[in-house]
This record gives sequence, structure tokens and C-alpha cells, in this order.
Amino acid sequence: MIIFLLFSLLLLTRPGESGLGLDLIQRDSASSPFYDGSLSSFQCIQNAIQRSLLFAAPSPLNPASTTNSSLKDYMMTITVNNSLSALTWFTVDTAGFPAGAPCGPCYPYGTSSSTGLVSLGNASNSLLSSLNMTTFAYCLQSLDSQANSQIYFGDVGNILLPLISTPLYTAIPPGQENSYYCINLDSIGIGKETISLPRSGAGGNLIIEPSTFLTYLPPDTVDAIIECFETFNLYPRAYDVEEETGLLLCFDVLLSGDYFEVPPIVWNFDGVLLTLPIKGTFVEVQQGVQCLTIVKTSGYAIWGSALQAYLNIEYDLKKNLCNIQLNDNCLSSPY
Ligand SMILES: *[C@@H]1O[C@H](CO)[C@@H](O)[C@H](O)[C@H]1NC(C)=O
Ligand SMILES: *[C@@H]1O[C@H](CO)[C@@H](O)[C@H](O)[C@H]1NC(C)=O
Ligand SMILES: *[C@@H]1O[C@H](CO)[C@@H](O)[C@H](O)[C@H]1NC(C)=O
Ligand SMILES: *[C@@H]1O[C@H](CO)[C@@H](O)[C@H](O)[C@H]1NC(C)=O
Repeated sequence: MIIFLLFSLLLLTRPGESGLGLDLIQRDSASSPFYDGSLSSFQCIQNAIQRSLLFAAPSPLNPASTTNSSLKDYMMTITVNNSLSALTWFTVDTAGFPAGAPCGPCYPYGTSSSTGLVSLGNASNSLLSSLNMTTFAYCLQSLDSQANSQIYFGDVGNILLPLISTPLYTAIPPGQENSYYCINLDSIGIGKETISLPRSGAGGNLIIEPSTFLTYLPPDTVDAIIECFETFNLYPRAYDVEEETGLLLCFDVLLSGDYFEVPPIVWNFDGVLLTLPIKGTFVEVQQGVQCLTIVKTSGYAIWGSALQAYLNIEYDLKKNLCNIQLNDNCLSSPY
């Protein structure tokens, strides 16, 4: 249908390419309808952490929480017929819709509520099939950035020289209609240590999910990660903040004058390495306290948005590949 008419922003195209780019608006940022100017940036980060813990509780993919748009961290604005009055807010999710989801066939217009879910799933009711596009890509700013993140649909989102190109799978957890995008993470390196991850049978072992802040990994893996960071013994633990937030590893960096440096986490995809920016691996949740954004899962492993910051991540549903490239500020287009 004429969904192209719905989008007023055509950000960029390379010659001979088609597609569109949209702002991806973080829930607490100034351009969001949920924006609350009275919240400090620390409170916004703490809220994102609490939403993420709710999103994943009690089991990582419980349908009630994953379809609850108030728990989602990113939104797109969709302008109907260039009319601001019809500006509608949608939360973004890579999951497909469960049966009987409020939005029905996934054309955003015509819904009476002002928020809804946009599915980026690989299914007939998803935004992608409405757009007749088989690729999308985004780059997420860190939460303390003032700039909006961007999402690209179609050719304009193609990463020409990916650092990582790894098989992309769709997983539908038992008893659910939702489908998720998954990749296979073999192991995690920190300093000289290598921590391997349990492989799932067919398909990937890690769900890529931009709608939730924290990253969820198997308990043994998280214990090993924490042990690695502890052995560097660089900063005192902030146990009180861990208890307050529900996070598992926080360092007090006040004494070091807010200076914080630890070895980065390196993800290993079949021998290809991706060094994750420290800026998303640890976040400053209050003045002088840096906390790890990885927590334990009782079910599926989920790669959350904090750890996706400053990466261009492309989902290619034709070649079934996930392509990743580093992008220091998400501002310059690497495409
Ligand atoms: C969605 O989450 C919010 C915030 O936790 C909660 O207040 C609300 O009841 C939830 N809605 C549903 C339908 O579960
Ligand atoms: C958009 O504009 C066209 C032409 O004026 C109109 O037919 C259509 O109903 C409008 N769509 C919406 C969703 O308002
Ligand atoms: C969808 O895209 C494909 C490939 O670009 C094209 O062949 C097809 O005609 C398109 N379908 C519609 C309904 O536009
Ligand atoms: C996406 O859907 C197409 C068409 O059904 C299918 O060929 C492809 O394997 C799917 N890719 C993923 C990653 O699910």
C-alpha cells in the first residue's frame, strides 16, 4: 500500500538506491512524548535499567512484558500525510506481534491510540513487509547523548564494509507467536580471559533486542565476566548501588576523579572479533559510580541497547546476515 506517503523524512539515498531513514527517539530524550525535564540524566539511566529489569522479568520473553509499549526504550515518529496533527508515536521492537496484538495488520495509521508497537520482525504483519523491504539498520546513541539515533530501511541502510558479518536467525520461543532475531556468539574475551557461551542447537544463542537497555547472559557467563573485571582490582566495588539498582557489578570511581578505564569486552563471532565500546559496557548510574550493563538471565540471552551503542547494526533478511560496523558517534553515515 501507500505506506511511503506516511513517512515524511527521507534522510539520504546513494545514487541508485532506495529506502528511507528515520529518527529513532529514545524514550526519555527531549523529543519524546515521555520526556520529563525534571529528571536528571542519572535518573533516566536508572529508569531505563528498571524498565529493562521489568521487561525481562520474570522470564526473559514473557509476552505481557515484551508487548508493553511503556517498557520499550525506542520510538519512531511517523507522520501521516505530512500532517503534524497525525503525528503518531510507535515503539520499536524486533519481535513480531503475538496473535491478537492490538495493532492487528501492521499499518500504523487508523489506530486511535497515540502509541503502538511497530514490529520489525520478518513476518507478513511487520513494518518491513509493509515497506516491501528486506533490510534495516540502526545506530544507537548512548543514553546521555543529546542526539537522536537513526534507523534506515532498504538499501540506504546497507553497510558496505562490515567489520562483522554473521548468520542471522529468527527464533520463535516455545508457546509464543513472537519471533526474534538471533545471532551466534561463540565466546567473550576480556583481557587475556576467554569465556565461552553455551551454543543453542540450530539457530543463534543471542537475541538482538534494541527495545531493552540491559544485556542478559547465562548466569555462569556473567559470573565469569564479573570475576574478570574484579581481578583487575582497579576500583572499589559500590555494593550499595548494586543493591539499589539490581545490577551485579558497580565500581566507585569517585576517588579516581571519575576516571574510568577497564579492558573492553570483545565478542567473538566465529573467529571475527568485535570490541564493544566501554561507554555502553559500563554506564554511570550516579555521580562517580560505573555499573556493568550485563545481568543474568533465567532463559534467553538478550543483547540489549546499552551494549549496542555506537555500532551500526544491519539486519539483512534476504541473505540472512547480521552486519556490524563500529561508528564512534552514530552521526556520520558509514554507508
Ligand atoms: C506496562 O508496564 C507499566 C510499567 O511497569 C505498568 O504500569 C503497566 O501496568 C503495564 N501494562 C501491562 C498491560 O502489563
Ligand atoms: C492522506 O491523504 C490522502 C489524500 O488527501 C487521503 O485520501 C488519505 O485518506 C489521507 N490518509 C490519512 C491516513 O489521513
Ligand atoms: C517488492 O520488492 C521486490 C524487489 O525489490 C519487487 O520485485 C516487487 O515488485 C515489490 N513488490 C511490491 C508489492 O511493490
Ligand atoms: C525472512 O523471511 C524470508 C521469507 O520468508 C526467509 O526466506 C528468510 O529466511 C527469513 N530470514 C530470517 C532471518 O528469518
